[in-house]
Amino acid sequence: MKKKKDKVLVIHGPNLQLLGKREPGIYGTMTLEAINKELCAYASKKGLAIEIVQSNSEGDIVEKIAATRCNFLIINPAAYTHTSVAIRDAIAGVNIPAIEVHLSNIHKREQFRKKSLISDIALGVITGLGSLGYVLALEAAHEFLKKSSQKS
Ligand code: DQA
Repeated sequence: MKKKKDKVLVIHGPNLQLLGKREPGIYGTMTLEAINKELCAYASKKGLAIEIVQSNSEGDIVEKIAATRCNFLIINPAAYTHTSVAIRDAIAGVNIPAIEVHLSNIHKREQFRKKSLISDIALGVITGLGSLGYVLALEAAHEFLKKSSQKS
């Protein structure tokens, strides 16, 4: 049987649409549009299909994950990282590998940000490397998918 094309779903959680002007000392000056452009360019260089969404709504994110036909997830759940059992359960429920990304180092900040409800079900976590974290996550996704297709 012909293998389905590898496709990576990137989800940006709440308030990330404000990147560029949102607390630039913490999140940097790059806009979400610029980050997405970089991800699309990287994906096209590697021949990887990519879908990118941003949502401020926990329910939308849960539904997006549940309905996905992608076989890899990169997610910055933003504030929902620290609160959302629903997003955690959605990721666990679809059983596709996920990388959790944060622009800031959540371990260097307020106490309430140190706890992630996602990290222990993620394949990996990248935190504190700014927008580079997304590109590194995509590179890791590409390597992971390449290796798993060699096995099957
Ligand atoms: C964030 C860190 C979260 O604590 C915060 O609520 C965000 C962004 C990050 O990318 O550093 O909105 O996920």
